Amino acid sequence: MSELRKHIEEALAVIRKHTSSKPEIGIVLGTGLGDLANEIDKEVEIPYQDIPHFPLSTVESHAGKLIFGTLSGRPVVAMQGRFHYYEGYSMKQITFPIRVMKFLGVHTVLISNAAGGMNPLFRKGDLMVIVDHINLLGDNPLIGPNDDELGPRFPDMSEPYSKELIALAEKVALEEKIKIQKGVYVAVAGPNLETRAEYRFLRAIGADAVGMSTVPEVIVARHMNLRVFAVSVITDECFPDALQPVDVEDIIRTANEAQPYLTRLMKRVAERL
Ligand code: HPA
Repeated sequence: MSELRKHIEEALAVIRKHTSSKPEIGIVLGTGLGDLANEIDKEVEIPYQDIPHFPLSTVESHAGKLIFGTLSGRPVVAMQGRFHYYEGYSMKQITFPIRVMKFLGVHTVLISNAAGGMNPLFRKGDLMVIVDHINLLGDNPLIGPNDDELGPRFPDMSEPYSKELIALAEKVALEEKIKIQKGVYVAVAGPNLETRAEYRFLRAIGADAVGMSTVPEVIVARHMNLRVFAVSVITDECFPDALQPVDVEDIIRTANEAQPYLTRLMKRVAERL
């Protein structure tokens, strides 16, 4: 058994002492987008610090936890608190919880993030369903020996975001009268925001939105053949020729204002998976 598999088994053993829950859906919530967690009928919460090999939040005021329960009657596991590369965690640490979710029985992961909009048709507050991504993090969680029992050495990336779930989200959005955009997400390491020249570059290579998360989790999810659905909340407009200084409070305010729509979209999608 690989070292990674051993670590997964050790984490599972502790989780199994708390719950026998068999979640089908895994949820990863972005910064300022924790409302969906409040919609979960909670059964058990396990602090990350109690689970072997889970990264520990250092910067966040409240430490993260895994939440087990049901969302619209479906068994789910949600990460309250996620990890970013810019915080100094390795790619393997960031994606370890996704590995554990797979072994808990999860077949689909729902992910959200806050991102800067570069497509000039996007406005702040818009929701963008991610249809593809570009990894500019300069690192990859799959580097190193491959455990063939977890997934292939050279995983396919022709459909990282499930076309079926994107179509479902479009249907749900129409029914619920929620405006959605679709686009390509580019992940950068951060933590600084981009220069005008960088936004121009990122737009030119085909990205609609830029952020500092999600791609590591998606790569690992696809390595293990989990279905992925992800949404960016466009929290600021990153138009290089009309760029305003970033206002982090405004970004958080925008994320909060968009939250009810994101929550409703995710909930309705989860119901119909
Ligand atoms: N870049 C620019 N704007 C943003 C980002 C980012 O990574 N995340 C949220 N808004």
